[in-house]
Amino acid sequence: MIKRNLLMAGLAAAALGFGAFGAQAAIELHNTVTGEPLNLDDAGPEGRDTEAFKQFLETGKNPYNKEPNCLANGEQLFLSMCSGCHGHVAEGKIGPGLNDNYWTYPDNNTDKGLFETIFGGASGQMGPMYGAVNPDQMLQIMSWVRHLYKDGVEDANWLDDADKANFKPYDGHSHAPKPDPAKTPEACKPSE
Ligand code: HEC
Repeated sequence: MIKRNLLMAGLAAAALGFGAFGAQAAIELHNTVTGEPLNLDDAGPEGRDTEAFKQFLETGKNPYNKEPNCLANGEQLFLSMCSGCHGHVAEGKIGPGLNDNYWTYPDNNTDKGLFETIFGGASGQMGPMYGAVNPDQMLQIMSWVRHLYKDGVEDANWLDDADKANFKPYDGHSHAPKPDPAKTPEACKPSE
């Protein structure tokens, strides 16, 4: 009986797409184009049990949007993994601009939607990124992409009201602020 209950609990967790994340995952993630559930186990073991990623799975919100000490690493990751196709400041190149209020896939104006596109890819050259950057690093890249946003605050759905009140559009050229090592989450420190 006990075994059977365990099995049922396991099946329920699997059916909800919780996988290895147990009961923590409160949001469900889907491929941006096909709508198929994303399998977080496609990613390696790195960057999956960080505070930020756990919080993201509970809330669908990217905690790094409020962590300026993670921007520098997010910028470096963006420059090595994304800017070749999306442009230096996400202005668009062979891939579309990510710094304005137009989205091919409108859900990308939420943290959940943006994560889904980065993790699972979209079409053509926009392949899934889970083999190249870990889930926590995806959140770091996302906060840098949001930092690069240059259009109106009214379309910045990822911001809450307090953040909207303090919003300043990106100035078009400056780099991320220098992080304070004492306050930088471990996951946002550059990997050797
Ligand atoms: C090899 C080139 C290439 C790389 C590398 C690449 N992208 Fe893309 N990306 C594209 C293309 C092309 C599209 C358009 C795909 C589509 O419309 O389905 C796209 C689409 C997107 C979209 C959807 C935009 C919208 O308007 O809805 C997002 C978000 C995105 N990419 C983010 C990223 C991030 C973040 C990275 C780095 C982790 C990255 N991409 C790396 C080529 C690339």
